[in-house]
Amino acid sequence: MSTDKTNNKPGEVETTGHSWDGIEEFNNPLPRWWLWTFYACIVYALLYSIAYPAWPLVKKATPGILGYSTRANVAKEIERFDAMNAPIEARLVSAELTEIPGDPELMNYSVNAGAAVFQTWCAQCHGSGAAGVQASGYPNLLDDDWLWGGTIEDIHLTITHGIRNEQDPDARYSEMPVFGEILEEGEIAQVVQYVRKLSGQDHDAALAAPGETVFLDNCAACHMEDGTGDRFQGAPNLTDAIWLYGGSEDAITFTVTNARFGVMPTWQARLSEADIRAVATYVHQLGGGE
Ligand code: HEC
Ligand code: HEC
Repeated sequence: MSTDKTNNKPGEVETTGHSWDGIEEFNNPLPRWWLWTFYACIVYALLYSIAYPAWPLVKKATPGILGYSTRANVAKEIERFDAMNAPIEARLVSAELTEIPGDPELMNYSVNAGAAVFQTWCAQCHGSGAAGVQASGYPNLLDDDWLWGGTIEDIHLTITHGIRNEQDPDARYSEMPVFGEILEEGEIAQVVQYVRKLSGQDHDAALAAPGETVFLDNCAACHMEDGTGDRFQGAPNLTDAIWLYGGSEDAITFTVTNARFGVMPTWQARLSEADIRAVATYVHQLGGGE
């Protein structure tokens, strides 16, 4: 590589002196317009970093002298909407629950706000369309089959306190015994066939006949003599084709042998009364409300 910078022809700028296989590099100055744009960018960046949040410090960035903050903007927007909704929320909270469905303004607000609450807090268990998850213990909220009752007051109570959770002393509570420790295997097989019969499914009639006695002695206290269940105890109706945990022989045998213990969290700690009323109204009007 040559280092001679002067082997240029007359009228040409000097070269950098670099030459590779005879190819030389001219030492042209940067164009003025480019250079000034570059300086302008540096000045702009400095001013920007003084005016706006920019330099990361240990916990937060420098705030900038204009006091601009996206977080504060969001908080302000939320405050604005809260203020806008305050009057209707106050009315929703003070109304009788049973009056809400007949009040178009409250109804409109509740269904919209309730749908948003549902998607945020309930959909992960009950499904985004509220149809539950088949045989998983998460009930369908669209049908008129209710474990704990389908009036707006029942639904409101269920949501406020939850079911079988340890956090809320007022949670709905009941417990099916573990019949694996109480009944003989043979008796369980009999009562399972009787439950299949109750729900109108294929069953072994020879087992179902003695199964009826087992049922009346052990199950009727909660599921009622005719098997239609008891909402006071959240004991499901066993005569319909709607199953919380599944109606196959295997699923019923498992339920009877081991019992189930469906838990729903309490919501009063996390949601405002207005939100609970909105989502209760939303669930009530989904189709199964009583
Ligand atoms: C962590 C899962 C979970 C979440 C989240 C959840 N639920 Fe539940 N929910 C359940 C389970 C499980 C049951 C059934 C409990 C049982 O077996 O009695 C239930 C039952 C219900 C019932 C009673 C249905 C009936 O037939 O009586 C209602 C109403 C209800 N949920 C509404 C809601 C609403 C509204 C939300 C959101 C604010 C919500 N749930 C969030 C798990 C959940
Ligand atoms: C102390 C009350 C109680 C007694 C007694 C009881 N059950 Fe239950 N049973 C319940 C409750 C409560 C549930 C719902 C559990 C849940 O939601 O997690 C239930 C659920 C069931 C289910 C599940 C239904 C579904 O939709 O998946 C079946 C099946 C069942 N019981 C059968 C029986 C049989 C058979 C007996 C008698 C051998 C019996 N139960 C005795 C309270 C009882």
